[in-house]
Formats: sequence, structure tokens, C-alpha cells
Amino acid sequence: MYTAPASLCALLFLLLPALVIALPVKPSNNWVVSHAKPVARRGLSVPLQRREVDRRNAETLLAGSIGVGDVGDTFYTVAIKIGNTTTAVNLDTGSSDLWIMSDGCQTPVCKRSTATPFPAESMHLTGATVNLTYGDSLTGTHASGPIVMDEVTLAGLAMQMQPLAAVSNTDNTAVLNGGAGIIGLGFPSQSNIQSAVVSEKFGRSVTANEFVSHISSLGPLVSRMAAASIIQQPLFTVTLQRDTIDVSGNGQLTIGELPDGVDNSSLTWVPVRLYSTTDGGLQAPTYAAGETYPLRWEVAIGNVYLDGKPLANSTIEPNGIATSFVDALIDTGNSLIRGPSDIVNNILSSVSPAYASNAKSKPTLSCNSSHSLAFEIGGQLFSVDPRDFLSQNSAGNATDCVVSSVAPTDPPGFGSLFSWSLGDPFLKSNLVAFYYGNLTHPWEDPPRIGFLSMVPSNASALLGDAVTAAMENGGKFEGDPR
Ligand SMILES: *[C@@H]1O[C@H](CO)[C@@H](O)[C@H](O)[C@H]1NC(C)=O
Ligand SMILES: *[C@@H]1O[C@H](CO)[C@@H](O)[C@H](O)[C@H]1NC(C)=O
Ligand SMILES: *[C@@H]1O[C@H](CO)[C@@H](O)[C@H](O)[C@H]1NC(C)=O
Ligand SMILES: *[C@@H]1O[C@H](CO)[C@@H](O)[C@H](O)[C@H]1NC(C)=O
Ligand SMILES: *[C@@H]1O[C@H](CO)[C@@H](O)[C@H](O)[C@H]1NC(C)=O
Ligand SMILES: *[C@@H]1O[C@H](CO)[C@@H](O)[C@H](O)[C@H]1NC(C)=O
Ligand SMILES: *[C@@H]1O[C@H](CO)[C@@H](O)[C@H](O)[C@H]1NC(C)=O
Ligand SMILES: *[C@@H]1O[C@H](CO)[C@@H](O)[C@H](O)[C@H]1NC(C)=O
Repeated sequence: MYTAPASLCALLFLLLPALVIALPVKPSNNWVVSHAKPVARRGLSVPLQRREVDRRNAETLLAGSIGVGDVGDTFYTVAIKIGNTTTAVNLDTGSSDLWIMSDGCQTPVCKRSTATPFPAESMHLTGATVNLTYGDSLTGTHASGPIVMDEVTLAGLAMQMQPLAAVSNTDNTAVLNGGAGIIGLGFPSQSNIQSAVVSEKFGRSVTANEFVSHISSLGPLVSRMAAASIIQQPLFTVTLQRDTIDVSGNGQLTIGELPDGVDNSSLTWVPVRLYSTTDGGLQAPTYAAGETYPLRWEVAIGNVYLDGKPLANSTIEPNGIATSFVDALIDTGNSLIRGPSDIVNNILSSVSPAYASNAKSKPTLSCNSSHSLAFEIGGQLFSVDPRDFLSQNSAGNATDCVVSSVAPTDPPGFGSLFSWSLGDPFLKSNLVAFYYGNLTHPWEDPPRIGFLSMVPSNASALLGDAVTAAMENGGKFEGDPR
């Protein structure tokens, strides 16, 4: 899920240039390699897989990988160890903060949670608190609580003194479906926790110099690993498995390296959008004046294609800004593909006879109808596998399906320049590599995203086979828990 632009207000910087020139802190050596325990498979229909990471020589740069848990293809989790607590968190490239619910959280969603909470007695408080907000105008949620520091281990890589929020009040459903919170893999410029702990340290609002120079010490977990150069390459990659319609794929998070067998040159790399301060971006520090920072994992896209034909461009105006481009946010925390409402209507009425005759009805279609929705990125087409485009409409019925993967979202505005948010259906179909580059001096090594299609050439035939198999199985698709 993406963090609401409103939360940018929390990132207020002193406009006075700092007189003292701060330098990025030296890469710290306060890390250890250890192994995360697999999380109990509560509600996870695919086992969390984990590749052992060798304990390497301290001089060697590190990398690690871990399997991803999947609940109904809408909620992907990874195991994480915080202090002595091993739990699962929602993998989210649309936000930048790490939080888990504490055992003090008594809100309705926390009471329904089955995940392991963070014990209050083990909290190392920083004195700072935070209130994180998520979603858009319709789906806004929050998570608030004290900021604590602890050792955090993800994919076999550990960082000591990692700031995170121990959430005592939330209405965010990330604490359901086996998860206990969210790990945000976005850029430091969107981290409310970094902003709050750096402010707490100085006892006032942070200057841009102080903020940027604390990325490697107080920034988000994986950004710190990249900024402190403790991982082989400043990147992570995500592949998501398919657990409905046709169980397949290999859900995996790698940090510091591409997945085994994947060659850099097979990916299409495109630059991440940099946000000027007038777009809601981070102010440059005096020691790197002229730098423009990334805010979100967002790239420019070209035409959007349905079944090989380009769809007409959206005519919806951005909200209070002027843009000459169409951007897409790449968001693992979004269970859908969300885009401009006119294009979404166009897609739904093209594929669903029911929706075409009445836009208030469900966009149903025959399960064996194979459609290809594709996005032009870096001059190449990256499609959504026909198996990820639709889902079963009613239990035990393999003829009647529904397009549940596409929905409308807000037009671009200040702090959110993107028109599309490509979530899990896109990420099940494409391997995505998120390259941070140089987080303090982006001009030196700009952030970029690499894409590799995982859609087999016979994907339509595979959908047909899955539908036939389901029909022979009383209308139950493979992976259907009912
Ligand atoms: C964490 O586990 C270690 C080793 O079992 C133990 O010594 C330590 O007291 C534990 N810490 C907390 C806060 O429970
Ligand atoms: C956090 O923000 C939400 C949404 O703005 C608000 O409803 C909630 O009361 C806030 N919580 C705290 C503890 O400030
Ligand atoms: C980023 O670039 C700056 C300026 O060239 C350099 O000092 C710093 O070491 C670089 N950071 C990393 C992590 O390579
Ligand atoms: C991929 O290869 C290009 C060209 O060789 C290189 O510049 C880039 O750093 C590589 N990226 C990654 C993530 O390995
Ligand atoms: C959409 O707009 C872009 C930029 O103006 C243009 O290049 C492209 O051809 C348009 N696409 C369609 C389908 O009209
Ligand atoms: C698809 O399903 C419909 C209705 O269930 C059926 O009439 C049609 O023959 C099927 N088409 C294919 C290609 O299997
Ligand atoms: C599946 O649902 C469709 C639409 O509601 C219905 O016409 C059809 O009879 C159902 N098939 C089965 C096997 O229940
Ligand atoms: C799809 O292609 C794969 C790999 O070439 C092959 O093993 C499989 O049998 C094909 N399936 C169908 C339904 O065509």
C-alpha cells in the first residue's frame, strides 16, 4: 500500500541551511549474520522458503534471500526477527517504515490477529513516537506507537540498533492474515520513523543535512544496508508466487543480489522518478546541493495495452499539478492494479459483457477467457499473466470468473506523481529488481528498477488447462482452500 501524501507533512525540514557541514556517517560494522527462523505457517498456504546464507568473512559484502508467504495472492509476507521475537510482516515497496504491533495493542484488528506481537517488556524506547498513515482518500488507515530500537534480521541479514515502531494503535489489516505489521522497502525520504528519531536526537525539526547524513544509521532497514555498503549491490528483488487459479511461481525476496540464475542483462532497467522539492521531494543537503532525491519506487510508462492494442490515454486531469508523463508505482503492498478510472472502465467493459451492459454490475467473464493487460516500460511490454488477471467469482464454480485485479485510484497530485499502482497481479507476472543506487548522492549512482517478464508464451493454454482441471474437480481450482 502506498503511504498517503498527507504523511509527507510529518517530514518537515528546517529551511535554514545548516552551518555545520555533516558528512555521511562511516559505514558501521555493527551487523552480524544470523539465520531467521521460519515463521509458523498460520494461514499461509505456501510454505515460507528460505535459502541458507553462508556466514561469510567479515570483509565480504553480504546478500541473502528468503521465501515469501502468500495469503490468497493478496497479502505477501516475509519472516522477520526483531530482538528475540520472530514474526511475519507484509512486504511493502509502497512505504518506507517498519512496524509491528506490540502486545499492548487492543484495537479490534489487533485483537483478531493471530501473529506473534512484539512484547512490551523487551522494548528499547527511543523517546520518539510516530503515527503512520496509509492508503488513499477512500482507504486511509493508520498505525501509531513508540519508536524502539532493536536488532532486526531479514533474509538472513541482521542490522543492530534498527529503529522501528512498536504499534499500540492501528486499524490497518496488515496485522491480519498471519502478519504482525509492515516492512516498508521504500526510500528514506518517505520514512516518518527516520524523521522522528533524527528529530528526537537533535530535540527539534531536522535539517536536510542531518536527515541525509543519518540514512545509514537511522534509515529504513534495507536502505541502511545499501547506504552503509554492507550488501554486495544496493538492491533487492521480489518475485511473487501464484496461489490461486494455478499454483505456480516462486515467491522470493533477495537482498544484495539478483536471484540465482537471473542475469542482469536480461532485465530492462529504467530510471526511478526523482522528486523535486516542489513535487514533495526531499530537500538537498548543503554538502550535496543540486541533488534531487527519489521518493517512491516509481517509473515512467508508455502506452497500456489490452490484448495487443494500445488503450486510449486517460483524460483525467492531475490534482493541482501539471505532469507531462504517466508514471507507475511498483507496489508489493497493493493487492491490485490500480489506475485512472476511465482506463479501468475501458478495460472492464472490453472484457466483461456484464460490465459493458451495466457499469454497476460485477465485471464477470468466463474463466477460460484469456486476456493480456500489458504496460510499456523502457520500450518493452510487461504483461499480466492471464491467470493473474481474473479470479474465481463463486466457490465451486470454474466457469464464472471476475476481473478482481483492476480498480480505479486517485489522479496524480503533490507527493504522488503516479497514475498507476502496479501491485501483486503485476508482480506475480514479472520479476522486479529495486536498485537503490547511492542514497545520499543519487546523481552518482541513480536509483532504477529492472523488470523481467515471467509470463510463459503458452500462458493462455495454461489458464485453459487450469480451468479444465478445475471443472473436472467439481469447480475447485488448484490452491482453492474451500
Ligand atoms: C533474548 O534471548 C537471549 C538468549 O536467549 C536472552 O539472554 C535475553 O535475555 C533475551 N532478551 C529479552 C529481552 O527477552
Ligand atoms: C493517527 O492518525 C489518524 C489519521 O489521521 C488519526 O485518526 C489517529 O487518531 C492518529 N493517532 C494518534 C495516536 O495520533
Ligand atoms: C555516494 O557518493 C558519495 C559521493 O561521491 C560517496 O562519498 C559515497 O561513498 C557514496 N556512497 C556509497 C554507498 O557508495
Ligand atoms: C547491470 O549491468 C550494467 C551494465 O553492465 C551495470 O552498469 C549495472 O550496474 C548492472 N546492474 C546491476 C544491478 O547489477
Ligand atoms: C498517449 O500519449 C502519449 C504522449 O502524448 C502518446 O505518445 C501516445 O501515442 C498516446 N497513446 C495513445 C494510445 O493515443
Ligand atoms: C469457455 O467456456 C465457455 C462457457 O463455459 C464455453 O462455452 C466455451 O466453449 C469455452 N471455450 C474454450 C475455448 O474452452
Ligand atoms: C456457475 O455460475 C454461473 C453464473 O452464476 C451459472 O450460470 C452456472 O450454472 C454455475 N455453474 C455451476 C457448475 O454451478
Ligand atoms: C506450456 O509450456 C511448457 C514449457 O514449454 C510445457 O512444459 C507445458 O506442457 C505447456 N503447457 C501447455 C498447456 O501448453
